[in-house]
Amino acid sequence: MSIYMKKPFIICNWKMNPATPREAKKITQEIARITEAKKGTVIIAPPTLFIERVRALYPWVAGQDISAHAAGAYTGQISARMLRKENVSYVIVGHSERRKYQCETDEQIAQKIKQAHGEKITPIICVGETKKATIPQAWNKIKKQLDILIPSLVRGGNYIFAYEPVWAIGGNKEVDPKYATDIIYRIKLYVRTQTQEVSPVIYGGSVNCENIDSLLYYKNTIDGFLVGSASVRPKEIKNIIKKIYGSY
Ligand code: 13P
Repeated sequence: MSIYMKKPFIICNWKMNPATPREAKKITQEIARITEAKKGTVIIAPPTLFIERVRALYPWVAGQDISAHAAGAYTGQISARMLRKENVSYVIVGHSERRKYQCETDEQIAQKIKQAHGEKITPIICVGETKKATIPQAWNKIKKQLDILIPSLVRGGNYIFAYEPVWAIGGNKEVDPKYATDIIYRIKLYVRTQTQEVSPVIYGGSVNCENIDSLLYYKNTIDGFLVGSASVRPKEIKNIIKKIYGSY
């Protein structure tokens, strides 16, 4: 893990928001102002069309996805190389919304990880169970995902895992921090035994101003947060970042 990647990691996944470039600019400026303290790595993942604008105002930008292919006849897709050429150093892969709506498989996601590594882009690799379950049941599902994804990791390369229980995504779903922490601990341990490397693991799923304190109680295990809906509400994301900064 290179030195410019500092814990805590806060990834703002804007998904298909905001609606206009003007709003994108406003949120970026707010985030840029507060992250001047450089207490961690705050990364904005805007829609592809806004990447260049956001990048002009803020250095830490992620793609929301990349193609599993290097180049070719893949209408609508963007390659890892294209992101690299826009000076984008991170990319989210395997997000549950892509798994669901684009029917992405772990095998395809493994290819995306390889593409990202090939361009020295840090993949933020999402895993998580779809239905609310017991910890052993959920872990069983996640371990299966990891078994397909881990072989594509490059030794000594940068990568971040994001645990997102799919049933907890939506901005205001109930989150059990202890449950999330238990799963994150298992992911860390498993990745470490399989790769002999230490990977940061962050949490995503309805992170908001109300529940961030209870999640931060487990900051020794949780290395950061993947924030969706709250990350396009300037006031709320500022408060979340402040709380996180104040705690690590
Ligand atoms: P919400 O924060 O809206 O639940 O989204 C989480 C997420 O999917 C981030 O990638």
